Amino acid sequence: MSQSSPYIYSFLGLLPFWILCTSSTNKCVVRHEAADCSHLKLTQVPDDLPANITVLNLTHNQLRRLPPDNFTRYSQLTTLDGGFNSISKLEPELCQKLPLLEILNLEHNELSRLSERTFIFCVNLMELHLRSNSIQKIENDPFQNLKNLIKLDLSHNGLSSTKLGSQPQLENLQELLLSNNKINILRREGLDFLGNSSLKKLELSSNPIKEFSPGCFHAIGKLFGLSLNNAQLNPNLTEQLCLELSNTSIQNLSLSNTQLYRTSNMTFVGLKHTNLTVLDLSHNNLNVIDNGSFVWLPHLEYFFLGYNNIEHLFSHSFYGLLSVRYLDLRRSFTKQSTALASRPKIDDFSFQWLKRLEYLNMGDNNFPGIKSNMFTGLIKLKHLSLSDSFTSLRTLTNETFLSLAQSPLVTLNLTKNKISKIESDAFSCLGHLQVLDLGLNEIGQELTGQEWRGLGNIIEIYLSYNKYLQLTPGSFALVPSLQRLMLRRVALRNVDSSPSPFHSLRHLVILDLSNNNIANINDKLLEGLEKLEILELQHNNLARLWKRANPSGPVYFLKGLSRLHILNLESNGFDEIPAEVFKGLSELKSIDLGLNNLNIFPLSVFDDQASLKSLNLQKNLITSVEKDVFGPAFRNLSNLDMSFNPFDCTCESIAWFVNWINSTHTNISDLSSHYLCNTPPQYHGFPVMLFDISACKDSAPFELFFIINTSILLIFIFTVLLIHFEGWRISFYWNVSVHRVLGFKEIDRQPEQFEYAAYIIHAYKDRDWVWENFSPMEEKDQTLRFCLEERDFEAGVLELESIVNSIKRSRKTIFVITQHLLKDPLCKRFKVHQAVQQAVEQNLDSIILIFLEDIPDYKLNHALCLRRGMFKSHCILNWPVQKERVNAFHHKLQVALGSRNSIH
Ligand SMILES: *[C@@H]1O[C@H](CO)[C@@H](O)[C@H](O)[C@H]1NC(C)=O
Ligand SMILES: *[C@@H]1O[C@H](CO)[C@@H](O)[C@H](O)[C@H]1NC(C)=O
Ligand SMILES: *[C@@H]1O[C@H](CO)[C@@H](O)[C@H](O)[C@H]1NC(C)=O
Ligand SMILES: *[C@@H]1O[C@H](CO)[C@@H](O)[C@H](O)[C@H]1NC(C)=O
Ligand SMILES: *[C@@H]1O[C@H](CO)[C@@H](O)[C@H](O)[C@H]1NC(C)=O
Ligand SMILES: *[C@@H]1O[C@H](CO)[C@@H](O)[C@H](O)[C@H]1NC(C)=O
Ligand SMILES: *[C@@H]1O[C@H](CO)[C@@H](O)[C@H](O)[C@H]1NC(C)=O
Ligand SMILES: *[C@@H]1O[C@H](CO)[C@@H](O)[C@H](O)[C@H]1NC(C)=O
Repeated sequence: MSQSSPYIYSFLGLLPFWILCTSSTNKCVVRHEAADCSHLKLTQVPDDLPANITVLNLTHNQLRRLPPDNFTRYSQLTTLDGGFNSISKLEPELCQKLPLLEILNLEHNELSRLSERTFIFCVNLMELHLRSNSIQKIENDPFQNLKNLIKLDLSHNGLSSTKLGSQPQLENLQELLLSNNKINILRREGLDFLGNSSLKKLELSSNPIKEFSPGCFHAIGKLFGLSLNNAQLNPNLTEQLCLELSNTSIQNLSLSNTQLYRTSNMTFVGLKHTNLTVLDLSHNNLNVIDNGSFVWLPHLEYFFLGYNNIEHLFSHSFYGLLSVRYLDLRRSFTKQSTALASRPKIDDFSFQWLKRLEYLNMGDNNFPGIKSNMFTGLIKLKHLSLSDSFTSLRTLTNETFLSLAQSPLVTLNLTKNKISKIESDAFSCLGHLQVLDLGLNEIGQELTGQEWRGLGNIIEIYLSYNKYLQLTPGSFALVPSLQRLMLRRVALRNVDSSPSPFHSLRHLVILDLSNNNIANINDKLLEGLEKLEILELQHNNLARLWKRANPSGPVYFLKGLSRLHILNLESNGFDEIPAEVFKGLSELKSIDLGLNNLNIFPLSVFDDQASLKSLNLQKNLITSVEKDVFGPAFRNLSNLDMSFNPFDCTCESIAWFVNWINSTHTNISDLSSHYLCNTPPQYHGFPVMLFDISACKDSAPFELFFIINTSILLIFIFTVLLIHFEGWRISFYWNVSVHRVLGFKEIDRQPEQFEYAAYIIHAYKDRDWVWENFSPMEEKDQTLRFCLEERDFEAGVLELESIVNSIKRSRKTIFVITQHLLKDPLCKRFKVHQAVQQAVEQNLDSIILIFLEDIPDYKLNHALCLRRGMFKSHCILNWPVQKERVNAFHHKLQVALGSRNSIH
């Protein structure tokens, strides 16, 4: 596999992207009938767009004008967005060219003057956006012809008056946005032009309004909604405002951040004769709500009082709020100081007037505690949030929530209140409760089960993030209706109690036991939870339970959870996974096994997970992804995360995976950067997706190739070893064979044809032994005659030629092998060679070795190129150490001398 090809692929992969980018930098994007030409630095309107477009977006360009002629082509436009340009002039003919125009957006431009003709042809216009221009004055009724206009946005201009026309017009207007201008007086004549309009929303926020002239709002046909946020209304001006709103149709009034620091029983008197349903008084630094302040608001339903500074809620502050259903008191009370003296105070029975209140949020406050009649009278209250409401609630007793006994409370949120203990029967008066949130407190106790007594309708108990919880078999025995139980990071103890703490929760759908460092559970923990769909067990210490080495075998704690959809087992230290562990979990849609130490997955582990949609195996030790293991799990997958695994980029390990990646529609994010090869070394850090599988495409030829390769290698190794250890034998027999084949006749002459029975090769130093042992043999047997160099060579002269001749004239050659012989240069170089040559030509039995000493074979080979193995065993004789065996030796020697010269 060449290293360069993947880089070429990646370059080719980038090419289309590059083309796309360059083409879109100077071309509008047309999709359906909408052309988006935004952010193109255009100075002119493009003239080459399809003529049938209905939406043209020209925002964020450098247009100075919108020449009507340039739009002749686009007569079908209904929406023209020219925002964020430098347009300073608008020609009336634009609308003439665009008769169907409904939405014209020219926000963030440089328009300063609108003439009587500017919009004269825009009869079909429904929305006109002129926000953030520099219009300071409007004269000559420019909007007179906009009979269909629904929304007009003139905010963020320099207008000092609301007067947009001199006579009634804009009869269909529903929203008029005039915030962030310089309007300081609302005059009747300034709003006369709306005399026939029915405004859902008049937005006047962030204006320096100082005065409401008599009858100003009555000039408007109908006014349902008014926003005056961020205006410097003090209590006096607010009172005046409300008087002006008297007898109007006002329903929705927003007075956020208007410095209404106090309300008295006169502030809202003007609203007596209205049907106000929504009032926003948030962010007002409101400090005192006098008794009876809201008595004039019997129709109010939504009341926003958040982010104020109330010190003391009097028993009659909310008197008269008969219809309020939703009350937001988040951060409504003093919070600056923690000193006890400045803690906010709520008089008992303060809420008793709110007979229709269903939703009360008192979160993010600093109350000292719950008083015995704090919530008395809230007979419709269903949802109460007391999240982070109390400095320290400590112990919840059987009396804490007594004031809610009459409330049909469905949800109670008690998070972040430093609750440390729940006593028995704490919630026993809340029989309707379905959702109880006790998370993020400091609860540290044993749960006996008595805590939940009376919660006959409870569906969810959220206990996550507390100090510690010790479970018992009865912990949840009294709440069998529970469907969701959250016990994340609560230092859960005694989870393996028997029977299981969860044994009675037959309706449980969600169980969160994550972040508890749980190490000990038994296989009965989740037994019988047949409706369980979501199980969170991440960040525990369950690794031991799946080990084969576990004393009683793997613990199958998931068995029987046939409805399970989502299973999270992240960060548990798992390094083994039993093959049967997901058996029967056929409805699993999501498995998270990320951040474990898994390497090897058993073959059939995911066989039952055909409906899996999401599989997370990131940050494990997975090296190979094989079809037999992951095939079933990958079949219907929509999301896969296998990032940060040490992939082994070889054909066997990832070829199938790479092939699957390149053909699947499954969403795999960060494929190119977080899926890298770890091994083999030459691919380290290389993206898995670029691994070239063409070499492994067809596995059958590959296997054949492998087999052939291996065989050749084995044969080679065998040959090398054979040559190394037995080479001499091969070459020796080769020589012998060659000589015989090439016709060297076997010289098997009769004994009488030889002059000597044997030529004796020995070292000079061994001559005495030779003499002593061979001459007696000659004496005994007169026919026997040896060629002894000392005797038979004249004057002991060693002529090479005579040696050769003597060897030839001898029937056999005897080597007397000693350490001396091995060192004798003449023997080494010549005599032995000659004798062996002769032996090869004649036959092998012609050589007899007599060992006077024990000489290892390798030394023999090294010095004389002889080996014991070359000769028949009867031709190899050892001189006996014991005297009594000398006779036997002589006998053997005679046998050897008498044998025929041939190999059999
Ligand atoms: C708009 O024009 C383009 C070509 O200019 C054409 O492909 C498209 O079908 C037309 N759309 C309609 C709704 O006529
Ligand atoms: C025009 O494009 C801008 C920026 O992309 C976008 O904020 C604006 O909503 C678009 N206008 C229309 C009418 O789609
Ligand atoms: C737009 O109109 C101006 C003058 O009305 C003309 O000079 C220009 O060529 C036109 N541009 C296009 C793109 O039609
Ligand atoms: C509000 O009105 C009262 C009397 O109606 C007056 O005494 C007081 O000064 C006024 N306050 C402001 C800030 O105008
Ligand atoms: C308003 O409160 C004052 C005392 O603060 C009281 O004298 C007056 O009668 C109250 N007005 C109404 C309408 O309740
Ligand atoms: C308030 O609503 C009632 C009934 O919906 C209606 O009769 C009455 O006219 C409304 N009052 C105002 C001031 O609009
Ligand atoms: C609360 O419990 C105590 C004993 O622990 C008991 O005396 C008292 O009557 C209980 N109060 C209520 C309202 O049940
Ligand atoms: C309880 O209130 C907190 C803070 O507003 C919120 O995050 C949490 O979701 C609420 N609990 C429930 C069950 O709605």
